Amino acid sequence: MTLFEQMGGTPVLNKTVTLFYQNVVTDPKISHLFPEDITPVMEKQAQFLTQFLGGPPLYTSVHGHPRMRARHLPFEITRERADAWLSCMRRALEQTVPDASLRDSILERLSSSAYFFVNTEG
Ligand code: HEM
Repeated sequence: MTLFEQMGGTPVLNKTVTLFYQNVVTDPKISHLFPEDITPVMEKQAQFLTQFLGGPPLYTSVHGHPRMRARHLPFEITRERADAWLSCMRRALEQTVPDASLRDSILERLSSSAYFFVNTEG
């Protein structure tokens, strides 16, 4: 069973993404990186995370190959900002995924990507 299925599929994933961006837009360390209209980013993130966690390839079917690290190069991503991103996600998951070990598995997968996207020291 995929992580996407284990967490409860589309409704739980979409709820998590909504809560995540509520955290992001109020996070003092990363909110300034994001556009004022967060809706398009939220939609792409929901598509991407669906496929990233083993669900259907929604992102690729609309936007092509993810090339996620390259897509993040225009933004200065430090280790501290990766930590802040992950903290926004952890707090969202705490509200949507009651099983702590499932939550940890999801966060572990996301951590590798988040630190891989770090492109700036400091
Ligand atoms: C490490 C900390 C991270 C920061 C600071 C960050 C920041 C950003 C920013 C500023 C955008 C662009 C918003 C815009 O369109 O103007 C973006 C887009 C996006 N990010 Fe991140 N991000 C991080 C990590 C991640 C991770 C770990 C993932 C998923 C594994 C992810 C997935 C996405 C997706 C799917 C988009 C939309 C891409 C598109 O435009 O097609 N990000 N991120």
